[in-house]
This record gives sequence, structure tokens and C-alpha cells, in this order.
Amino acid sequence: MKKILVLALSLVLAPVIAFAGGPPAATQAGIESKDYKWNAQEGEKIEALKLKGSAKEGKEGYEVCGACHLPSGAGRTDGTFPQLAGQHTTVLIKQMADIRAGLRDNPTMYPFAKELTDAQELANVSAYIESLCIPIDHGRYEGADAAKQIADGKTMYEKECIECHKANGEGVKDKFYPVLAGQHYKYLLRQMTEIRDGKRRNANPDMVTIIKKYDNAQLVAISAYQSSLVMPGSMCKAGAAKPAKKK
Ligand code: HEC
Ligand code: HEC
Repeated sequence: MKKILVLALSLVLAPVIAFAGGPPAATQAGIESKDYKWNAQEGEKIEALKLKGSAKEGKEGYEVCGACHLPSGAGRTDGTFPQLAGQHTTVLIKQMADIRAGLRDNPTMYPFAKELTDAQELANVSAYIESLCIPIDHGRYEGADAAKQIADGKTMYEKECIECHKANGEGVKDKFYPVLAGQHYKYLLRQMTEIRDGKRRNANPDMVTIIKKYDNAQLVAISAYQSSLVMPGSMCKAGAAKPAKKK
């Protein structure tokens, strides 16, 4: 674990050097391929999903992740690193497997995803992340027209997204639908753009069909709305030093 922590730090400090190792190219066609199964159950993924993870054991394994995603799991408000805290274990395990399989272009994290193949450790780290409260001071839409964007986004979200991502953005654990509440505005916008444009190739095909219709302006409004969602009881202030932003 020590060695990989050093690797994490060197990646954060000097990304250029780290790329020399060569992340996988976009190895898999994913959703664009005819044979693609959105959520194939195989390998360490299915093993990890069956195991009961220990949040306590997972704390140490998470250290390396915290170098980028922060110890609190809050990620960064500029959306470079997603917020992870409180995410469903199922979603975490699936995304890790997909990143390793080259279905998401994530060269920064690939070396770490590649190392975490022990099913029990994967289950433990995921259980630890899921147990963290969702920091409430995440990145939101900050334009002067925020109220209008959020209102427009709400209308669209309630029409086509709520069925899977639910009213407060809590997702559905056993269906692998991610928690969206607490996620950074810029990260949401980037992911939806990439899912729409086929760059993130691991998404649910029903969602892809829906999202293909939206133009950039609409995705801005939906992201503004999503980043305003609050999951009662699961969210907290990240730390006394950084009080939650007043709305
Ligand atoms: C060197 C930095 C770095 C490290 C270390 C790192 N990650 Fe990441 N991770 C990222 C980046 C960057 C993304 C977003 C990639 C993108 O935009 O698609 C990401 C995305 C993710 C996602 C997808 C989140 C979502 O909602 O879509 C998960 C899950 C994740 N990381 C888990 C982990 C875990 C668990 C570890 C530790 C084993 C870890 N990461 C270590 C940089 C890192
Ligand atoms: C049929 C269910 C379904 C519908 C409908 C749906 N989604 Fe999703 N969504 C998913 C699943 C499943 C994922 C995770 C995909 C994966 O495994 O990468 C996802 C991922 C996302 C993500 C990325 C989250 C992350 O942490 O990386 C965003 C943002 C999102 N959806 C927004 C929306 C919006 C906005 C709508 C409506 C326009 C919508 N979704 C409709 C199932 C759905």
C-alpha cells in the first residue's frame, strides 16, 4: 500500500511523468458495440458484489484514493475529481471495474484501478466510501441566472431522470443507479456530455437514448438542478474550516 501511495502523490504532483507508464487507450467500444452488455457480471466485480465489505478494513485501502478524492471523499469543486462519499457500493464496484476495462477514459486513475483487483479489498474500500457522509459544500452552478437554470433543469429531471435517479438524487443501490446528490456541477456536466457523445462508454443504454436528445444548454440546466439536490440525513458539512455554502 505504501508504494501505491507514493505513486498517487507523484501522479498528483507530476501528471506528466505518470503518463509515461501508458494508460490503456480507449480499448473498448462499450455502448457503441453491438455485443455490449451494460452491466456484465463477471470477474472480480461479481465476486466483490457478493462479498460483505468491511468499512473498517476499507479505511486503510482508501488512503491512496484520498490523495485525489480527498480523505473526506468530497473530491474537488472544480469537478476534476468527483465526490465519492456516500456512493452506493454497487456503483463504486461497477465503475472501478469499468475504468479498469477501459470503458471510461480515466488515465489519471487507471494505475490505481488496475491495482485494486482483490475482490475483498474492493468490497471493503467501497463499503468505507459508502459509509462517509456526503459533504454539502460541493461545486454548484454559480451563474447569475442560477434560479432559472435550476427551475428549467428541475422540469427536465422530473420528466425523464427521476424514475432512475429519484427525487433527491439518491439513485437505486441494487440497480447500480448512482447517487447524484452532492456531486459537483462541473463533474455532472462533463459526465453527461461524455455519455451523450459516446466518450464514456459504460452507461445504461436507456439513459443514453434519453440524453442524446439534449443540447449543451439543456445539460447545463439539468446539471445546475442536480447539483442543488439534497439527500436528507446523508449530508454533512465537510469541516468546520469550510462552512456549508449558504443558498
Ligand atoms: C490520481 C488521482 C486518482 C486516484 C489516486 C484515484 N482516483 Fe478515482 N477518479 C479520478 C478521476 C480524475 C476521476 C474522474 C474521471 C472522469 O472524469 O471520468 C475518478 C473517478 C472515480 C470514480 C467514478 C465516480 C463516478 O461517480 O463516476 C470512482 C468510483 C473512483 N474514482 C474511485 C476511486 C477509488 C476507490 C480510488 C482508490 C483505489 C481512486 N478512485 C483513486 C482520479 C483518481
Ligand atoms: C434507466 C435508468 C436511468 C435513467 C432514465 C437516467 N439515468 Fe442517469 N444513470 C443511470 C445509470 C445506471 C448510470 C451509471 C452508468 C454507468 O454505469 O456508468 C447513470 C449515470 C448518470 C450520471 C453520471 C453519474 C456519475 O456519478 O458519474 C449522471 C450525471 C446522470 N446519470 C444523469 C441523468 C439525467 C440527467 C437523466 C435524465 C435526463 C438520467 N440520468 C436518466 C441510469 C439512468
